[in-house]
Amino acid sequence: MARHSKTTNTTNNTKTARIISVASQKGGVGKTATVTNMAVGLVSLGYKTAIVDMDAQGHIALSFGIKKTDLKKTIFDVLIGEAKMRDIKQHAFGVDLYLSNNSLSELSPKVMAQINSKLFPAPKYLLRKAIGEIRTQYDYILIDTSPSNDIPTINSLLASTDIIIPVLPEGLSIDGIYETIFLIKGIQEQGSKINILGILPTMVQDHTNLHHVKLQELRKQFAETPDIKVFDTVIKRAIRHGLAQTDGEPDIKKAPEYLSFVKEVFAIA
Ligand SMILES: Nc1ncnc2c1ncn2[C@@H]1O[C@H](COP(=O)(O)OP(=O)(O)OP(=O)(O)O)[C@@H](O)[C@H]1O
Ligand SMILES: [Mg+2]
Repeated sequence: MARHSKTTNTTNNTKTARIISVASQKGGVGKTATVTNMAVGLVSLGYKTAIVDMDAQGHIALSFGIKKTDLKKTIFDVLIGEAKMRDIKQHAFGVDLYLSNNSLSELSPKVMAQINSKLFPAPKYLLRKAIGEIRTQYDYILIDTSPSNDIPTINSLLASTDIIIPVLPEGLSIDGIYETIFLIKGIQEQGSKINILGILPTMVQDHTNLHHVKLQELRKQFAETPDIKVFDTVIKRAIRHGLAQTDGEPDIKKAPEYLSFVKEVFAIA
């Protein structure tokens, strides 16, 4: 049972949400599953939580049982200045949702076409501005990103206080971590204070030798990198996680690892 109005990150009774992008340059590593389950986990602990979907695949809608083709306005309309965040807000399973669909793929061409006009003076900060409309309403705002370094992803990273990088403990996916860290470091060099919270091993099959060995290697590699940790919690590969997304009924009781995960990440109970 959700206990609402528990507060964190609060100054003078005003919330200032932590804004966490779940990002990886590798596709299919569990970004959307992580955002979805973290959100319902945080809600179950009583935290006011929102998700912003910055992936044109629109999978957050699917994960929460909402038809993305039914959406009249989406985050795309907010980013181009044709809607406010409150106009697109949906609510499901205790989470406020700012959804996307295919229309988001028009953002990059639209912004690039107008690059020299006054329409988008700060094309990388469109999401930061949009989140500014809602930030005081939440404890946590989670952003789902796509596996590319396009304008929506750059906007997501620049709007975030923190980043979580999911990874499958397998060769090519591990390579995705370095690409993602490289992208984030580039953004930090532009003056952004985003913090890499850590690396979350996902879809782990610890009975297989490959995952077991790769997970150990990963922990060893990052033990030598003091500013980036590999979380103790790991998410196992399980059919229930895959089904949860297509069923559109996220339930933290069916994904208890994610409850342990949010407690570990945010040191909350
Ligand atoms: N722990 C898990 N165990 C088994 N299947 C999972 C798990 N987590 C996610 N899945 C399934 O694996 C697929 C990829 O997961 P998900 O969509 O979360 O990845 P993603 O990183 O968001 O992908 P994309 O890069 O395309 O956005 C989905 O079909 C999802 O339902
Ligand atoms: Mg996804």
